[in-house]
Amino acid sequence: MTAVLTAECALTPIANVSGCDLQVPLVQGGTCTYANFDYAASAPALAQVTDRVNTVLPFYASVHRGAGYASRLSTDCYEGARESVARFVKATDDQVVVFTRNTTDSLNLLASCVPGDTVVLDLEHHANLLPWNKNGRRVVPTADTIEETIRNLVAELCSKPAALLSVTGASNVTGEVLPIARLARIAHQCGARICVDAAQLAPHRRIDLAAWDVDYIAFSGHKLYAPFGAGVLVGRRDWLDNADPHLIGGGAVKAVTTTSAEWAPAPQRHEAGSPNVLGAAALAAACDALCALDNEVVRQREEDLCARLRTGLDCIDGVEQVKIWNDSDDCVGIVTFTVDGFEAGEVAAYLSAEHGIGVRDGRFCAHPLIAKLGRTAAVRASVGLGTSSADVDRLIAALAQLVAGRRTWRYEKTGGHWNPSPETRDFESARGNGSSACV
Ligand code: ALA
Repeated sequence: MTAVLTAECALTPIANVSGCDLQVPLVQGGTCTYANFDYAASAPALAQVTDRVNTVLPFYASVHRGAGYASRLSTDCYEGARESVARFVKATDDQVVVFTRNTTDSLNLLASCVPGDTVVLDLEHHANLLPWNKNGRRVVPTADTIEETIRNLVAELCSKPAALLSVTGASNVTGEVLPIARLARIAHQCGARICVDAAQLAPHRRIDLAAWDVDYIAFSGHKLYAPFGAGVLVGRRDWLDNADPHLIGGGAVKAVTTTSAEWAPAPQRHEAGSPNVLGAAALAAACDALCALDNEVVRQREEDLCARLRTGLDCIDGVEQVKIWNDSDDCVGIVTFTVDGFEAGEVAAYLSAEHGIGVRDGRFCAHPLIAKLGRTAAVRASVGLGTSSADVDRLIAALAQLVAGRRTWRYEKTGGHWNPSPETRDFESARGNGSSACV
């Protein structure tokens, strides 16, 4: 059965993002507007982010290192960015904002500060699974329901003391949302702190560290419409102040001799080297812009887009949607699926080559979860502030065409990757002078 598509309830982008009118070549000839379904990997810059970066660039100068007027402005901009982030997550007075490169960097930083074992679920993506090896890492199996999964967590936390429970706010594979406030209560009752990997949650939901009673949170600018190389760890000061610096060098110190160093408290303790002021300013702009949006409107619109996508996929023979739990109904804008008779990479290559649609395929840096779900790979379509219902309809129509055997091109797998054969699209000139200069 093929999908029946209607134009009712057309949903348009809710914010201006860069690249929303990007024209991409098609393998069969001609071009079309790119349909971006890969927000969960990296989201395009919001217009407010681009504007803020352009405002900062003329006075871009050293941060914390110069008396010049531009340096003073840059320093104010960098420190002001912490305040925007703190407001965005509703940090408490005891919590400090440390700028990092991304979520992975933030969780590596926290892992080097934790004074004891960390408990994690096996559904985590690698950034919230691998760093905890540094101390004791205890991995709890995900069950078929959230309730049973939480029982597994409680059993592990009660079995012996743990310093930290680190959980994702929403799965990067399925978008399913975890009950953070409840998990925080459980962790605290068991004498542990809680860290939330909000890489996937923050772009979609309001964060409230104070109301949820969460101790640490990490997320990335590149998933939060601020792709300028900054991420954050926000959390309680004591562990951060007691740990060795994340990176050793200038800016992290109070005083240095040739034989010793006296480290500064957090956040400077963990931010050695010249800070990424443009990244921090971009992240702050994204936080401010998202705070200004009505989160209920954002959420409802995203739920409508995903419902439209799920309903469309349900109507296509051989398409199976992937979920972790059979008792969860709260998801951020991620829909993951497989298509019978086609490898995930083949589906993604086809969508890109013949329809100008960008999705992610593979194991999503969450190998244990994909294996647990009995897959070797899947296709992930993720939506964001620039997605429209017309994009969703295009994706469904393209998949229906694939399943109906109406591909117009051949595809070959070489070196583990699927590509159209022959590849007719011009990547060289599209990359422009910037990347030519990098070759
Ligand atoms: N963790 C990112 C993703 O899910 C990179 O795509």
